[in-house]
Amino acid sequence: MPLPYDGHPDGKASPAVAEPVRIERAGRKDALEFYRLEALCFEMDANDADTLYYWTPILEHMCCYKAVAGDGRIVGGVVSMPTYDGKWYVNSLCVSPEYRGRGIARRLMDAVIYAARPGRDIILDVKTDRPHLLKFYGSLGFTRRGRSDNHYLDGSDRFIMVRGCSRA
Ligand SMILES: CC(C)(COP(=O)(O)OP(=O)(O)OC[C@H]1O[C@@H](n2cnc3c(N)ncnc32)[C@H](O)[C@@H]1OP(=O)(O)O)[C@@H](O)C(=O)NCCC(=O)NCCS
Repeated sequence: MPLPYDGHPDGKASPAVAEPVRIERAGRKDALEFYRLEALCFEMDANDADTLYYWTPILEHMCCYKAVAGDGRIVGGVVSMPTYDGKWYVNSLCVSPEYRGRGIARRLMDAVIYAARPGRDIILDVKTDRPHLLKFYGSLGFTRRGRSDNHYLDGSDRFIMVRGCSRA
């Protein structure tokens, strides 16, 4: 279903894209394509069987958005969800390599920020070896709040970023 809103929650227009790409809420039928894109973008081994047990319920029950190209392919995605302590957590933001640099990640994040309930802090992790993303998330209102070492399965470290959520 198309989003009723597809701009920046603070009123800024999203950057123009060369080819129309729609941002829509993702659902369980997207699990396989979503997962394959994640595997490509995060350089993981793709094992389709995992989708049955992992990605299908995530896409069914969490707040996930997809970027859909003109030919119907999913070329970007993001997962977000409420946390046990009343915050909102974002992960797995990714855009297909050939569609990068067109503002799609920003539009996906706009959708998440808009969807998160007012008053909830939004949390995300950034690998410390991707410092350029700190600037990107900073431009969306996130600030660095901490760091934890050896966070990921591969032993790499993360920065924790937080955005105070308000639609006002
Ligand atoms: C990170 C990623 C999602 C960005 O997608 P994208 O659609 O190309 O991003 P956008 O076009 O919306 O660009 C967003 C901003 O980030 C900047 N940016 C994105 N990738 C960048 C890079 N590799 N180096 C420098 N800046 C970069 C852009 O310049 C842009 O800044 P601007 O709005 O001030 O011009 C994409 O590169 C990706 O899927 N990477 C692999 C997975 C990943 O690292 N995900 C993030 C996990 S925290």
